[in-house]
Amino acid sequence: MRPLTVAIPKGRVQKQLVPMLERAGLAASSLLDDDRTLIRVTEDQRLRFLLLKPDDVPTYVEYGAADLGIVGRDVLLERRYDLYQPLDLGIGRCRMVVAGVPSRPLPAVPRVATKYPRIATEHFASKGVQAEVIFVQGSVELAPLVGLADLIVDLVETGSTLKENGLVELELISAISSVVVANRSLFKLRHAEVSAVVDKLRGVVVP
Ligand code: PRP
Repeated sequence: MRPLTVAIPKGRVQKQLVPMLERAGLAASSLLDDDRTLIRVTEDQRLRFLLLKPDDVPTYVEYGAADLGIVGRDVLLERRYDLYQPLDLGIGRCRMVVAGVPSRPLPAVPRVATKYPRIATEHFASKGVQAEVIFVQGSVELAPLVGLADLIVDLVETGSTLKENGLVELELISAISSVVVANRSLFKLRHAEVSAVVDKLRGVVVP
C-alpha cells in the first residue's frame, strides 16, 4: 500500500504549516528542501507530501490521489467538493471582503473584479444587489484604480495591499483559515492511519 499521502499547498501558508507539522511529529523537514521535486517522503517512509497549487489540493484529495489535504476555506467556498473536513488548523488566517475606493459613489449595477466569482456572485445575490462579476487572475486591487471595476472581492491578510493601493474594506464576507480535508472513502478504509495524523495535528492547533 502507498504511504499515507498529504496534499500541501505551496506558497504563503507553508511558512506556518511546516513548523506546525513538525510540532505534530510529522517530520515535515523535507518540505523545506530547496528543489523542484513535487513528492516529498518522510525519512521513515510512512508519509509523503504532495506539493500543489492551493486550488488543486481538494481535487487530489477528492479523487483519492491524496488521503488528506490542507487548504484554505476560500478554495472550498469557491468550488464545491465532496470532502470530509475534520479539522480547522487555525493558520493562514485572513478574511474575504468587499473593498473599494473610499466614498466613491457606486452605479446601480456595480462591476466587481475578483478571483472568486462564485463567492462574489453569491454574496451580492444574498443581499439582493445586482452586480456584474468580472473574473481576474490576480493583482485584483488594480481593477478599481483603472476603471475595470467599481469594487473587488478578495482576501485580506495584513491589509497592506489594500492600503498601499488606496482601497478600503467595505464589507466582511467570511473569515478564512486553513483546514484539513480528507477523502471520504479513504478516511474509512485507512481510518487508523488517517485519524492518527489528524489527531496529531489537532494536538498542536492553537485556538
Ligand atoms: C493576496 C490577495 C491580496 C493580498 C492580501 O494576493 O489576493 O492581494 O494577498 O494580503 P495583505 O492583506 O497581507 O496585503 P497574493 O499575494 O496571493 O497575489 P495576487 O494578487 O497575485 O493574487
